[in-house]
Amino acid sequence: MVSRKRVFDLFRTMNVASCQCPAHSHTGNIQVLNSTPSKDYAFEIKCSTVRYGLGVTREVGLDLLNLGAKNVCVMTDPNVVSLSPMKAVLDSLTKNKVNYKVYDKVKVEPSDSSFKDAIKFAKEGDFDSFVAIGGGSVMDTCKAANLYYCDPNAEFLDYVNQPVGKGKPVKVQLKPLIAIPTTSGTGSETTGMSIFDYEEINAKTGIAHTSLRPILALIDPLHTLTVPRNVAIYSGFDIFCHALESFTAIPYTERGPVPENPALRPVYQGSNPISDVWSRFCLQALRKYFNRSVNNPDDIEARSSMHLAATMAGVGIGNAGVHLCHGLAYPIAGNVKEFVPADYGTDPIIPHGLSVTMTAPAVFRFTSVSDPDKHLEAAELLGSNISGKKQVDAGKVLADTILEYMEKMSIGNGLSSLGYTSEDIPKLVKGALPQKRLLQIAPIQQSEDDLTKLLEDSLTIY
Ligand SMILES: NC(=O)c1ccc[n+]([C@@H]2O[C@H](COP(=O)([O-])OP(=O)(O)OC[C@H]3O[C@@H](n4cnc5c(N)ncnc54)[C@H](O)[C@@H]3O)[C@@H](O)[C@H]2O)c1
Ligand SMILES: [Fe+2]
Repeated sequence: MVSRKRVFDLFRTMNVASCQCPAHSHTGNIQVLNSTPSKDYAFEIKCSTVRYGLGVTREVGLDLLNLGAKNVCVMTDPNVVSLSPMKAVLDSLTKNKVNYKVYDKVKVEPSDSSFKDAIKFAKEGDFDSFVAIGGGSVMDTCKAANLYYCDPNAEFLDYVNQPVGKGKPVKVQLKPLIAIPTTSGTGSETTGMSIFDYEEINAKTGIAHTSLRPILALIDPLHTLTVPRNVAIYSGFDIFCHALESFTAIPYTERGPVPENPALRPVYQGSNPISDVWSRFCLQALRKYFNRSVNNPDDIEARSSMHLAATMAGVGIGNAGVHLCHGLAYPIAGNVKEFVPADYGTDPIIPHGLSVTMTAPAVFRFTSVSDPDKHLEAAELLGSNISGKKQVDAGKVLADTILEYMEKMSIGNGLSSLGYTSEDIPKLVKGALPQKRLLQIAPIQQSEDDLTKLLEDSLTIY
Protein backbone atom coordinates (compact mmCIF):
# COMPACT_ATOMS: atom_id res chain seq x y z
CA MET A 1 0.00 0.00 0.00
CA VAL A 2 1.20 3.51 -0.79
CA SER A 3 2.16 5.38 2.38
CA ARG A 4 0.57 8.68 3.44
CA LYS A 5 3.97 10.40 3.13
CA ARG A 6 4.41 9.04 -0.41
CA VAL A 7 0.99 10.45 -1.38
CA PHE A 8 1.94 13.81 0.12
CA ASP A 9 5.28 13.83 -1.72
CA LEU A 10 3.48 13.00 -4.94
CA PHE A 11 1.05 15.88 -4.49
CA ARG A 12 3.93 18.19 -3.73
CA THR A 13 5.77 17.11 -6.85
CA MET A 14 2.60 17.64 -8.87
CA ASN A 15 2.21 21.07 -7.34
CA VAL A 16 5.74 22.12 -8.20
CA ALA A 17 5.51 20.70 -11.70
CA SER A 18 2.08 22.06 -12.50
CA CYS A 19 1.14 25.56 -13.52
CA GLN A 20 1.40 27.85 -10.47
CA CYS A 21 -0.77 30.65 -11.80
CA PRO A 22 -3.81 31.52 -9.66
CA ALA A 23 -6.19 30.10 -12.27
CA HIS A 24 -4.69 26.61 -12.32
CA SER A 25 -3.00 25.94 -9.03
CA HIS A 26 -5.91 25.26 -6.68
CA THR A 27 -6.62 21.56 -6.81
CA GLY A 28 -3.16 20.43 -5.77
CA ASN A 29 -2.99 22.91 -2.90
CA ILE A 30 -6.29 21.77 -1.41
CA GLN A 31 -5.05 18.17 -1.40
CA VAL A 32 -1.86 19.19 0.34
CA LEU A 33 -3.80 21.14 2.97
CA ASN A 34 -5.93 18.10 3.75
CA SER A 35 -2.98 15.76 3.83
CA THR A 36 -0.58 17.80 5.93
CA PRO A 37 -2.21 20.08 8.46
CA SER A 38 1.12 20.23 10.31
CA LYS A 39 2.84 22.25 7.55
CA ASP A 40 1.68 25.57 6.20
CA TYR A 41 0.58 25.84 2.58
CA ALA A 42 0.18 29.61 2.24
CA PHE A 43 2.11 32.80 2.80
CA GLU A 44 1.09 36.42 2.71
CA ILE A 45 3.00 39.64 2.08
CA LYS A 46 2.22 42.69 4.12
CA CYS A 47 3.95 46.00 3.74
CA SER A 48 3.55 49.63 4.66
CA THR A 49 2.71 52.02 1.87
CA VAL A 50 6.11 53.13 0.60
CA ARG A 51 6.73 56.49 -1.05
CA TYR A 52 10.24 56.99 -2.39
CA GLY A 53 11.86 60.14 -3.76
CA LEU A 54 14.61 62.71 -3.20
CA GLY A 55 13.14 65.34 -0.87
CA VAL A 56 9.84 63.49 -0.33
CA THR A 57 9.92 64.40 3.39
CA ARG A 58 8.47 67.77 2.43
CA GLU A 59 5.13 65.96 1.94
CA VAL A 60 4.80 64.72 5.53
CA GLY A 61 2.86 67.79 6.72
CA LEU A 62 0.24 67.28 4.02
CA ASP A 63 0.08 63.56 4.79
CA LEU A 64 -0.73 64.42 8.39
CA LEU A 65 -3.38 66.92 7.33
CA ASN A 66 -4.87 64.25 5.07
CA LEU A 67 -5.09 62.01 8.13
CA GLY A 68 -6.84 64.76 10.05
CA ALA A 69 -3.95 64.96 12.55
CA LYS A 70 -4.25 67.71 15.15
CA ASN A 71 -1.50 66.77 17.59
CA VAL A 72 1.49 64.77 16.39
CA CYS A 73 4.15 63.03 18.47
CA VAL A 74 7.47 63.36 16.60
CA MET A 75 10.15 60.96 17.82
CA THR A 76 13.87 61.08 17.11
CA ASP A 77 17.25 60.62 18.81
CA PRO A 78 19.55 63.22 20.42
CA ASN A 79 21.80 63.28 17.36
CA VAL A 80 19.29 63.31 14.49
CA VAL A 81 17.32 66.06 16.25
CA SER A 82 19.88 68.62 15.12
CA LEU A 83 20.44 67.29 11.60
CA SER A 84 18.86 68.20 8.25
CA PRO A 85 16.33 65.27 8.20
CA MET A 86 14.65 66.61 11.36
CA LYS A 87 14.65 70.14 9.98
CA ALA A 88 12.90 68.87 6.83
CA VAL A 89 10.15 67.23 8.94
CA LEU A 90 9.57 70.22 11.19
CA ASP A 91 9.60 72.66 8.24
CA SER A 92 6.85 70.64 6.59
CA LEU A 93 4.79 70.45 9.79
CA THR A 94 5.17 74.17 10.43
CA LYS A 95 4.36 75.10 6.85
CA ASN A 96 1.16 73.06 7.04
CA LYS A 97 0.27 74.34 10.52
CA VAL A 98 0.31 70.90 12.11
CA ASN A 99 0.72 70.91 15.92
CA TYR A 100 3.42 68.64 17.26
CA LYS A 101 5.60 67.80 20.25
CA VAL A 102 9.11 66.38 19.91
CA TYR A 103 10.57 63.50 21.91
CA ASP A 104 14.31 63.44 21.17
CA LYS A 105 15.61 61.05 23.82
CA VAL A 106 15.47 57.78 21.88
CA LYS A 107 18.39 55.57 22.92
CA VAL A 108 20.52 54.19 20.11
CA GLU A 109 20.06 50.40 20.35
CA PRO A 110 17.06 50.88 22.67
CA SER A 111 16.40 48.95 25.88
CA ASP A 112 13.25 48.19 27.85
CA SER A 113 13.94 51.21 30.09
CA SER A 114 14.45 53.55 27.15
CA PHE A 115 11.24 52.20 25.55
CA LYS A 116 9.41 52.88 28.82
CA ASP A 117 10.66 56.47 28.89
CA ALA A 118 9.30 57.06 25.37
CA ILE A 119 6.00 55.36 26.30
CA LYS A 120 5.69 57.66 29.32
CA PHE A 121 6.20 60.70 27.08
CA ALA A 122 3.50 59.47 24.69
CA LYS A 123 1.05 58.76 27.51
CA GLU A 124 1.49 62.29 28.85
CA GLY A 125 0.43 63.78 25.50
CA ASP A 126 -2.89 63.68 23.75
CA PHE A 127 -1.60 62.47 20.41
CA ASP A 128 -3.58 61.39 17.37
CA SER A 129 -0.59 60.35 15.25
CA PHE A 130 3.14 59.58 15.36
CA VAL A 131 6.12 60.44 13.15
CA ALA A 132 9.41 58.58 13.58
CA ILE A 133 12.43 60.29 12.02
CA GLY A 134 15.69 58.38 12.48
CA GLY A 135 17.21 54.92 12.19
CA GLY A 136 15.83 51.60 13.40
CA SER A 137 16.28 52.66 17.03
CA VAL A 138 13.88 55.58 16.58
CA MET A 139 11.33 53.73 14.45
CA ASP A 140 11.20 50.75 16.85
CA THR A 141 10.84 53.01 19.88
CA CYS A 142 8.03 54.94 18.22
CA LYS A 143 6.15 51.72 17.35
CA ALA A 144 6.27 50.64 21.01
CA ALA A 145 5.24 54.10 22.23
CA ASN A 146 2.24 54.03 19.88
CA LEU A 147 1.22 50.54 21.05
CA TYR A 148 1.31 51.23 24.80
CA TYR A 149 -0.19 54.69 24.31
CA CYS A 150 -3.17 52.99 22.65
CA ASP A 151 -3.38 50.27 25.32
CA PRO A 152 -2.47 52.26 28.43
CA ASN A 153 -3.41 49.50 30.88
CA ALA A 154 -1.20 46.85 29.27
CA GLU A 155 1.80 45.56 31.22
CA PHE A 156 5.04 46.02 29.29
CA LEU A 157 5.67 42.27 28.92
CA ASP A 158 2.13 41.57 27.67
CA TYR A 159 3.09 42.18 24.05
CA VAL A 160 6.75 41.11 24.18
CA ASN A 161 7.59 37.95 22.24
CA GLN A 162 7.40 34.64 24.07
CA PRO A 163 9.13 33.17 26.01
CA VAL A 164 10.44 36.47 27.40
CA GLY A 165 6.98 38.07 27.42
CA LYS A 166 3.41 36.89 26.91
CA GLY A 167 3.29 37.51 23.15
CA LYS A 168 -0.29 38.80 23.35
CA PRO A 169 -1.80 39.61 19.94
CA VAL A 170 -2.55 43.30 19.43
CA LYS A 171 -6.30 43.92 19.35
CA VAL A 172 -6.37 47.66 20.04
CA GLN A 173 -6.42 50.12 17.15
CA LEU A 174 -3.08 51.94 16.91
CA LYS A 175 -2.68 55.58 15.84
CA PRO A 176 -1.25 56.22 12.36
CA LEU A 177 2.55 56.17 12.36
CA ILE A 178 4.60 57.65 9.53
CA ALA A 179 8.20 56.36 9.47
CA ILE A 180 11.03 58.28 7.82
CA PRO A 181 14.27 56.27 7.93
CA THR A 182 17.55 58.18 8.05
CA THR A 183 19.87 55.16 7.89
CA SER A 184 19.98 52.51 5.15
CA GLY A 185 19.67 49.29 7.06
CA THR A 186 16.89 48.01 9.24
CA GLY A 187 13.87 48.29 6.95
CA SER A 188 11.89 48.89 10.14
CA GLU A 189 9.77 51.42 8.21
CA THR A 190 7.88 48.52 6.59
CA THR A 191 7.90 45.88 9.33
CA GLY A 192 5.66 45.03 12.25
CA MET A 193 8.68 44.52 14.52
CA SER A 194 10.02 46.58 17.37
CA ILE A 195 13.32 45.37 18.82
CA PHE A 196 14.88 46.27 22.16
CA ASP A 197 17.53 45.05 24.55
CA TYR A 198 15.88 43.39 27.54
CA GLU A 199 18.34 44.28 30.25
CA GLU A 200 17.30 41.45 32.58
CA ILE A 201 18.53 38.78 30.15
CA ASN A 202 21.26 40.79 28.38
CA ALA A 203 19.75 39.99 25.02
CA LYS A 204 17.48 41.59 22.53
CA THR A 205 13.91 40.58 22.03
CA GLY A 206 10.96 42.44 20.61
CA ILE A 207 7.33 42.90 19.86
CA ALA A 208 6.12 41.47 16.57
CA HIS A 209 2.67 42.21 15.29
CA THR A 210 1.39 43.44 12.00
CA SER A 211 -0.49 46.32 13.69
CA LEU A 212 2.83 47.93 14.60
CA ARG A 213 3.62 48.49 10.93
CA PRO A 214 3.80 52.18 9.97
CA ILE A 215 0.96 53.19 7.68
CA LEU A 216 3.38 55.12 5.47
CA ALA A 217 7.14 54.97 4.93
CA LEU A 218 8.68 58.06 3.38
CA ILE A 219 11.95 56.96 1.80
CA ASP A 220 13.97 60.10 1.23
CA PRO A 221 17.55 59.40 0.12
CA LEU A 222 18.58 62.98 0.94
CA HIS A 223 18.72 61.89 4.59
CA THR A 224 21.50 59.41 3.89
CA LEU A 225 23.97 62.14 2.92
CA THR A 226 24.77 62.91 6.57
CA VAL A 227 25.24 59.24 7.59
CA PRO A 228 28.81 58.74 8.91
CA ARG A 229 31.10 56.00 7.58
CA ASN A 230 30.64 53.39 10.31
CA VAL A 231 26.87 53.81 10.40
CA ALA A 232 26.85 53.32 6.60
CA ILE A 233 28.98 50.16 6.98
CA TYR A 234 27.12 48.53 9.86
CA SER A 235 23.63 49.34 8.61
CA GLY A 236 24.74 48.10 5.16
CA PHE A 237 25.66 44.76 6.72
CA ASP A 238 22.21 44.69 8.29
CA ILE A 239 20.69 44.84 4.78
CA PHE A 240 23.23 42.19 3.72
CA CYS A 241 22.12 39.75 6.42
CA HIS A 242 18.41 40.54 5.99
CA ALA A 243 18.66 39.65 2.31
CA LEU A 244 20.77 36.52 2.87
CA GLU A 245 18.75 35.24 5.81
CA SER A 246 15.34 35.70 4.22
CA PHE A 247 16.63 34.18 0.95
CA THR A 248 17.93 31.08 2.75
CA ALA A 249 15.14 30.83 5.34
CA ILE A 250 13.11 27.64 5.66
CA PRO A 251 10.62 27.48 2.76
CA TYR A 252 7.14 28.56 3.90
CA THR A 253 5.77 25.12 2.97
CA GLU A 254 8.13 23.51 5.46
CA ARG A 255 7.10 25.73 8.39
CA GLY A 256 4.14 24.72 10.47
CA PRO A 257 1.60 24.39 11.76
CA VAL A 258 -1.17 25.78 9.57
CA PRO A 259 -2.69 28.56 11.71
CA GLU A 260 -6.22 27.92 12.94
CA ASN A 261 -7.13 31.39 11.75
CA PRO A 262 -5.32 33.34 9.01
CA ALA A 263 -4.94 36.23 11.46
CA LEU A 264 -2.63 33.97 13.49
CA ARG A 265 -0.17 33.27 10.66
CA PRO A 266 3.17 34.40 12.14
CA VAL A 267 4.97 37.54 10.98
CA TYR A 268 7.99 35.38 10.03
CA GLN A 269 6.72 32.80 7.55
CA GLY A 270 9.80 31.47 5.78
CA SER A 271 11.18 32.06 2.32
CA ASN A 272 8.69 32.39 -0.50
CA PRO A 273 8.70 33.44 -4.15
CA ILE A 274 7.84 37.08 -3.40
CA SER A 275 10.38 37.71 -0.64
CA ASP A 276 12.97 36.02 -2.87
CA VAL A 277 12.41 38.80 -5.42
CA TRP A 278 13.30 41.43 -2.78
CA SER A 279 16.30 39.44 -1.59
CA ARG A 280 17.70 38.99 -5.08
CA PHE A 281 17.23 42.70 -5.80
CA CYS A 282 19.07 43.60 -2.59
CA LEU A 283 21.98 41.25 -3.11
CA GLN A 284 22.55 42.76 -6.56
CA ALA A 285 22.22 46.29 -5.18
CA LEU A 286 24.80 45.49 -2.48
CA ARG A 287 27.18 44.21 -5.12
CA LYS A 288 26.88 47.42 -7.09
CA TYR A 289 26.53 50.11 -4.44
CA PHE A 290 27.70 49.00 -0.96
CA ASN A 291 31.39 49.90 -1.43
CA ARG A 292 30.59 53.04 -3.36
CA SER A 293 28.14 54.30 -0.74
CA VAL A 294 30.67 53.79 2.05
CA ASN A 295 33.70 55.21 0.28
CA ASN A 296 32.02 58.21 -1.27
CA PRO A 297 29.33 59.69 0.99
CA ASP A 298 28.40 62.21 -1.73
CA ASP A 299 27.63 59.48 -4.27
CA ILE A 300 23.88 60.14 -4.28
CA GLU A 301 23.17 57.31 -6.74
CA ALA A 302 24.88 54.76 -4.47
CA ARG A 303 23.41 56.15 -1.25
CA SER A 304 19.89 56.33 -2.81
CA SER A 305 20.16 52.76 -4.07
CA MET A 306 21.24 51.48 -0.65
CA HIS A 307 18.33 53.37 0.91
CA LEU A 308 15.87 51.67 -1.43
CA ALA A 309 17.58 48.30 -0.90
CA ALA A 310 17.11 48.64 2.86
CA THR A 311 13.36 49.10 2.39
CA MET A 312 13.15 46.21 -0.05
CA ALA A 313 15.06 43.90 2.30
CA GLY A 314 12.67 45.08 5.02
CA VAL A 315 9.73 43.80 2.99
CA GLY A 316 11.58 40.48 2.63
CA ILE A 317 12.39 40.07 6.34
CA GLY A 318 9.09 41.53 7.41
CA ASN A 319 7.36 38.54 5.84
CA ALA A 320 9.92 35.75 5.32
CA GLY A 321 11.97 36.45 8.45
CA VAL A 322 15.58 36.31 9.52
CA HIS A 323 17.21 33.42 11.32
CA LEU A 324 20.56 32.47 12.79
CA CYS A 325 22.70 35.60 12.27
CA HIS A 326 20.01 37.66 14.00
CA GLY A 327 19.20 35.07 16.67
CA LEU A 328 22.88 34.90 17.65
CA ALA A 329 23.34 38.67 17.34
CA TYR A 330 20.84 39.48 20.05
CA PRO A 331 22.99 38.17 22.95
CA ILE A 332 26.17 39.36 21.18
CA ALA A 333 24.82 42.93 21.29
CA GLY A 334 23.23 42.49 24.73
CA ASN A 335 26.43 41.34 26.49
CA VAL A 336 28.63 44.16 25.18
CA LYS A 337 31.69 44.76 27.36
CA GLU A 338 33.86 47.73 26.43
CA PHE A 339 33.53 47.98 22.65
CA VAL A 340 32.95 51.60 21.63
CA PRO A 341 32.71 51.98 17.84
CA ALA A 342 33.45 55.27 16.10
CA ASP A 343 30.39 57.29 14.98
CA TYR A 344 28.04 55.88 17.66
CA GLY A 345 28.71 58.14 20.65
CA THR A 346 30.78 57.27 23.70
CA ASP A 347 28.89 54.40 25.36
CA PRO A 348 29.94 50.78 24.87
CA ILE A 349 27.70 49.37 22.14
CA ILE A 350 27.80 46.71 19.43
CA PRO A 351 25.79 48.20 16.58
CA HIS A 352 23.12 45.87 15.26
CA GLY A 353 24.62 45.41 11.77
CA LEU A 354 28.02 44.56 13.23
CA SER A 355 26.54 42.03 15.64
CA VAL A 356 24.67 40.22 12.86
CA THR A 357 27.50 40.01 10.37
CA MET A 358 30.06 38.50 12.78
CA THR A 359 28.53 35.03 12.63
CA ALA A 360 27.41 35.19 8.99
CA PRO A 361 30.35 33.21 7.50
CA ALA A 362 29.84 30.37 10.02
CA VAL A 363 26.05 30.47 9.68
CA PHE A 364 25.97 30.09 5.90
CA ARG A 365 28.62 27.35 5.94
CA PHE A 366 26.22 25.57 8.33
CA THR A 367 22.98 26.17 6.41
CA SER A 368 24.31 25.53 2.91
CA VAL A 369 23.39 21.83 2.89
CA SER A 370 19.72 22.79 3.09
CA ASP A 371 19.82 24.29 -0.41
CA PRO A 372 23.31 24.47 -1.93
CA ASP A 373 22.06 25.97 -5.20
CA LYS A 374 20.44 28.92 -3.44
CA HIS A 375 23.61 29.55 -1.41
CA LEU A 376 25.68 29.49 -4.61
CA GLU A 377 23.18 31.81 -6.29
CA ALA A 378 23.48 34.27 -3.38
CA ALA A 379 27.28 34.28 -3.73
CA GLU A 380 26.94 34.93 -7.45
CA LEU A 381 24.46 37.78 -6.91
CA LEU A 382 26.98 39.32 -4.52
CA GLY A 383 29.61 39.21 -7.25
CA SER A 384 31.48 35.90 -6.91
CA ASN A 385 32.33 33.74 -9.88
CA ILE A 386 30.69 30.38 -9.19
CA SER A 387 31.47 28.69 -12.49
CA GLY A 388 32.80 25.20 -11.85
CA LYS A 389 31.77 25.32 -8.19
CA LYS A 390 30.07 22.20 -6.89
CA GLN A 391 27.11 21.96 -4.53
CA VAL A 392 29.41 20.65 -1.84
CA ASP A 393 31.42 23.91 -2.05
CA ALA A 394 28.35 26.14 -1.61
CA GLY A 395 28.87 27.00 2.07
CA LYS A 396 32.54 27.86 1.64
CA VAL A 397 31.88 29.89 -1.51
CA LEU A 398 29.22 32.04 0.18
CA ALA A 399 31.25 32.38 3.42
CA ASP A 400 34.32 33.50 1.44
CA THR A 401 32.19 36.02 -0.45
CA ILE A 402 30.88 37.48 2.82
CA LEU A 403 34.40 37.58 4.30
CA GLU A 404 35.64 39.50 1.27
CA TYR A 405 33.02 42.22 1.87
CA MET A 406 33.80 42.26 5.60
CA GLU A 407 37.53 42.59 5.05
CA LYS A 408 37.07 45.39 2.51
CA MET A 409 35.02 47.33 5.08
CA SER A 410 37.65 46.71 7.80
CA ILE A 411 35.31 44.67 10.02
CA GLY A 412 37.32 43.30 12.97
CA ASN A 413 38.46 39.69 13.21
CA GLY A 414 35.32 38.09 14.61
CA LEU A 415 33.80 38.08 18.08
CA SER A 416 37.26 38.34 19.66
CA SER A 417 37.57 41.85 18.17
CA LEU A 418 34.46 42.77 20.19
CA GLY A 419 36.09 41.55 23.41
CA TYR A 420 34.60 38.03 23.58
CA THR A 421 36.57 34.90 24.43
CA SER A 422 35.62 31.21 24.44
CA GLU A 423 34.58 31.62 28.09
CA ASP A 424 31.70 33.86 26.99
CA ILE A 425 30.20 31.31 24.60
CA PRO A 426 27.88 29.52 27.10
CA LYS A 427 26.41 32.89 28.08
CA LEU A 428 25.87 33.82 24.42
CA VAL A 429 24.22 30.46 23.69
CA LYS A 430 21.94 30.94 26.70
CA GLY A 431 20.87 34.31 25.28
CA ALA A 432 20.27 32.85 21.82
CA LEU A 433 18.11 29.92 22.92
CA PRO A 434 15.00 32.01 23.75
CA GLN A 435 15.08 33.52 20.22
CA LYS A 436 12.89 30.65 19.03
CA ARG A 437 10.91 32.84 16.65
CA LEU A 438 14.14 33.40 14.68
CA LEU A 439 15.87 30.05 15.17
CA GLN A 440 12.80 28.21 13.82
CA ILE A 441 13.10 30.14 10.58
CA ALA A 442 16.55 28.69 9.87
CA PRO A 443 16.47 26.09 7.09
CA ILE A 444 18.10 23.54 9.43
CA GLN A 445 17.02 23.04 13.00
CA GLN A 446 19.90 23.36 15.45
CA SER A 447 20.97 21.84 18.75
CA GLU A 448 22.62 23.77 21.57
CA ASP A 449 25.92 22.23 20.43
CA ASP A 450 25.37 23.61 16.94
CA LEU A 451 24.88 27.13 18.33
CA THR A 452 28.02 26.73 20.44
CA LYS A 453 30.00 25.66 17.38
CA LEU A 454 28.70 28.56 15.27
CA LEU A 455 29.84 31.02 17.95
CA GLU A 456 33.19 29.27 18.45
CA ASP A 457 33.80 29.38 14.70
CA SER A 458 33.04 33.12 14.79
CA LEU A 459 35.62 34.04 17.47
CA THR A 460 38.17 34.66 14.72
CA ILE A 461 37.00 34.68 11.14
CA TYR A 462 39.87 35.66 8.80
N1 LIG B 1 12.23 46.62 13.52
C1 LIG B 1 12.96 46.03 12.61
O1 LIG B 1 12.43 45.49 11.66
C2 LIG B 1 14.45 46.04 12.78
C3 LIG B 1 15.25 45.36 11.85
C4 LIG B 1 16.61 45.42 12.03
C5 LIG B 1 17.17 46.12 13.09
N2 LIG B 1 16.38 46.75 13.99
C6 LIG B 1 16.91 47.52 15.13
O2 LIG B 1 17.29 48.84 14.67
C7 LIG B 1 18.34 49.33 15.52
C8 LIG B 1 19.51 49.83 14.67
O3 LIG B 1 19.06 50.85 13.82
P1 LIG B 1 20.02 51.57 12.73
O4 LIG B 1 21.07 50.63 12.29
O5 LIG B 1 19.14 52.15 11.71
O6 LIG B 1 20.77 52.69 13.53
P2 LIG B 1 20.35 53.60 14.77
O7 LIG B 1 18.97 54.09 14.66
O8 LIG B 1 20.71 52.85 16.00
O9 LIG B 1 21.33 54.84 14.58
C9 LIG B 1 22.75 54.63 14.59
C10 LIG B 1 23.47 55.96 14.71
O10 LIG B 1 23.34 56.70 13.50
C11 LIG B 1 22.87 58.02 13.78
N3 LIG B 1 22.13 58.48 12.61
C12 LIG B 1 20.95 58.01 12.17
N4 LIG B 1 20.61 58.62 11.01
C13 LIG B 1 21.60 59.51 10.74
C14 LIG B 1 21.81 60.44 9.68
N5 LIG B 1 20.99 60.57 8.66
N6 LIG B 1 22.93 61.19 9.73
C15 LIG B 1 23.82 61.06 10.77
N7 LIG B 1 23.68 60.19 11.77
C16 LIG B 1 22.57 59.42 11.75
C17 LIG B 1 22.07 57.88 15.03
O11 LIG B 1 21.95 59.11 15.72
C18 LIG B 1 22.90 56.86 15.80
O12 LIG B 1 23.99 57.49 16.46
C19 LIG B 1 18.73 48.20 16.43
O13 LIG B 1 18.16 48.37 17.70
C20 LIG B 1 18.16 46.98 15.75
O14 LIG B 1 17.89 45.91 16.64
C21 LIG B 1 15.02 46.73 13.83
FE1 LIG C 1 18.63 43.38 11.28
